[in-house]
Amino acid sequence: MLATLIYRSQPTGAFDPSGLAELVGKAWLQNVQLQVTGILLFDGEHFLQVLEGPLASVNTVFARINHDTRHHNVVELLRDFAPHRRFANHGMLLLDLQKQRPAAVLRAILRFGTLKYQLASNDRVYKFIRHFIASSGHTAGVRHTAPDQWRFVVKTPPFLTGAAPDSADQPCQFAFQPIIEPQREKISSLEALIRGPGGGSPQEYFSTIAPEKLHEADLASKGWALAMARRLGIGNHKVAINLLPMSLVKIPGAVDILLDHITRNHLRPGQIIVEVTEDEVISGYEEFTWAIRQLRAAGIGLAIDDFGSGFAGLSLLAKFQPDKLKIDRTLVTDIHLHGPKQAIVKAIIECCAELQIAVVAEGVEKIEEWCWLEAVGIQRFQGFLFARPMLNGVSPVSWPQRVIK
Ligand SMILES: Cc1cc2nc3c(=O)[nH]c(=O)nc-3n(C[C@H](O)[C@H](O)[C@H](O)COP(=O)(O)O)c2cc1C
Repeated sequence: MLATLIYRSQPTGAFDPSGLAELVGKAWLQNVQLQVTGILLFDGEHFLQVLEGPLASVNTVFARINHDTRHHNVVELLRDFAPHRRFANHGMLLLDLQKQRPAAVLRAILRFGTLKYQLASNDRVYKFIRHFIASSGHTAGVRHTAPDQWRFVVKTPPFLTGAAPDSADQPCQFAFQPIIEPQREKISSLEALIRGPGGGSPQEYFSTIAPEKLHEADLASKGWALAMARRLGIGNHKVAINLLPMSLVKIPGAVDILLDHITRNHLRPGQIIVEVTEDEVISGYEEFTWAIRQLRAAGIGLAIDDFGSGFAGLSLLAKFQPDKLKIDRTLVTDIHLHGPKQAIVKAIIECCAELQIAVVAEGVEKIEEWCWLEAVGIQRFQGFLFARPMLNGVSPVSWPQRVIK
């Protein structure tokens, strides 16, 4: 299968511009062997490269390129498939924008295009190239800190740990995971994550519940979550609880039941954030809208969870503006390497800024992910990088601190 891959990167200190010709010469030989065409643009600050060829060959070349220490911040922008080659002449074409004028570069690329493909000015790959040339001299990517500019300081949060569940026959338990604001060294809230009666996975817990009892059990479990939050001594901290949207529709008086759980555990509605997942189809929008209004009227916070993982996120956002929006881990994982994820997350941030919605990045596991997300203005984070969920407790938090060199 004929594949096209485009990435952007930046030279490191190990890159010697005078060695560019040699680099290209070697790359040309390797690309010819693998039937890969590599069009490399360089503007002095960034590389943009188009790789075209059989999928396995493109993957082989890109894997090698990824490990090359002469450049870093390698961000994949496009991976696509085509019936015919856009570019003829397997090998390598170097276009140095410091030496060639933009018009000449574009002409050279068009000349490299195959007649069969009829490379046109509205071709997507050509548009990537044109955009790179047009923004040459400006930063094409986000300027973020390097991982080695941070160290982590582990601190134990001020909660009790290892509190026993309320009663021995409790059908579920909860693990708590902090959502943190590293810049303020503040725990923004604690998310209560459901576990089986013996501490097992959420799947294990839900598998024990008859489908017709699902929403009842979902709502009832919030009582156990809030009881545990109280026993951990959460003080004025906020607690986020996950709720299936249809529990608000199917259980009569659901909001009152929730309020009862809150007051019985000596908590205030303002301390509670209901996280609505988008993995359940919401039918009965009218009832759901009414329940959300009641939640808000009682002072309970609302967050859209797993945003970006399913199908309902945008419509939920259009209908109910939550206080918080949690960007799903599928968008967060390896975001520093992935142009499409970067573009989506930047758009989410812009949208939430306009609507005054706080953004949380969930599932942050790598320091590189955090460096990128922090640089685009996200302030709240949840993930193994900072703290893992802990059964009946809150684990120590690793706070990132800038290393002063
Ligand atoms: C910006 C940039 C673009 C590169 N493009 C290619 C390429 O198109 N084909 C290629 O074989 N090597 C390319 N290289 C060089 C590879 O990273 C690597 O050094 C070379 O393939 C030798 O790999 P090996 O040491 O694993 O054999 C490029 C390097 C850089 C820094």
